[in-house]
Amino acid sequence: MSGTFPHDGAPLLEARGIDVSYAGKPVLAGIDLAVRPREIVSLLGASGCGKSTLLKVLAGLISADHGERRFLGEPLDAPHPRSALVFQQAGLLPWLDVAGNVGFGLDFKHQPALSANQRHQRVAQAIEAVGLSEHARAFPAQLSGGMAQRVAIARALARQPALLFADEPFSALDAITRAEMQLLLTGLVQRWHTAVLLVTHDIDEAILTADRIVLMSGSPGRILHEWEVPISRPRDAAPQAFAALKLEILAALRQRHNNITQPASSENANETRKPLDYVR
Ligand SMILES: Nc1ncnc2c1ncn2[C@@H]1O[C@H](COP(=O)(O)OP(=O)(O)OP(=O)(O)O)[C@@H](O)[C@H]1O
Ligand SMILES: [Mg+2]
Repeated sequence: MSGTFPHDGAPLLEARGIDVSYAGKPVLAGIDLAVRPREIVSLLGASGCGKSTLLKVLAGLISADHGERRFLGEPLDAPHPRSALVFQQAGLLPWLDVAGNVGFGLDFKHQPALSANQRHQRVAQAIEAVGLSEHARAFPAQLSGGMAQRVAIARALARQPALLFADEPFSALDAITRAEMQLLLTGLVQRWHTAVLLVTHDIDEAILTADRIVLMSGSPGRILHEWEVPISRPRDAAPQAFAALKLEILAALRQRHNNITQPASSENANETRKPLDYVR
């Protein structure tokens, strides 16, 4: 099954029929995906299935062999100024303080021109949003891993993105900091009206954060299944619904695994190749 296009309202990001190969080896095949305004979509899948490649294609960082990408209704062939990226490593510039890092890039020529006052306000608001106002003059070497990742998120927010692309942004953090950052992210989305495409290989993180989960499988990367997450927030207040969705996701993965490891013989082909929708 491939991802579906939303029926209500214009999507922020739309991709259809995306194929990507590296040196002739197919890595993504026939990907259809859309992200609606203010939606958190989690791209979930095992290591190597093509999540980062898909995120880079959707962010306009690399091109696709085939397929169509649109952002805010326009064809996309380069990173859009209304999008921003956060990666696993904060990637801060060590010679700039927190405010300098958050403001870095706002003056690039593809960004909308800002007055000095507007720029200052944007930076201060973004730093405040991630709870680092008291550390605005600190340098990266003086920050913990979680603080550094907050700076990376603030740097993205300062662009006031319509869509934030986040590639495993919390996977280098300890479990407690990670849980705090997941809450921070979902809170920011509500307050800043930003949509997020969050790559993760952590099923719990996907269920805790996302409005919709898109499950990928690899070789080549395809969309296997997707779920709207029907659980009100905070998600950990509904453990039964949480566990039920987790079991559905695991069942879809197991089904995929069985299809790969037990190629259908002519006799039991229908047994082993049931449609994935059975898990819903
Ligand atoms: N620049 C590249 N050149 C050649 N092959 C690549 C390149 N980037 C990725 N690949 C291959 O494409 C496939 C998908 O890689 P990708 O990094 O998108 O996976 P992923 O799902 O993000 O994995 P992980 O969870 O480990 O980050 C892998 O087989 C990888 O080896
Ligand atoms: Mg990756």
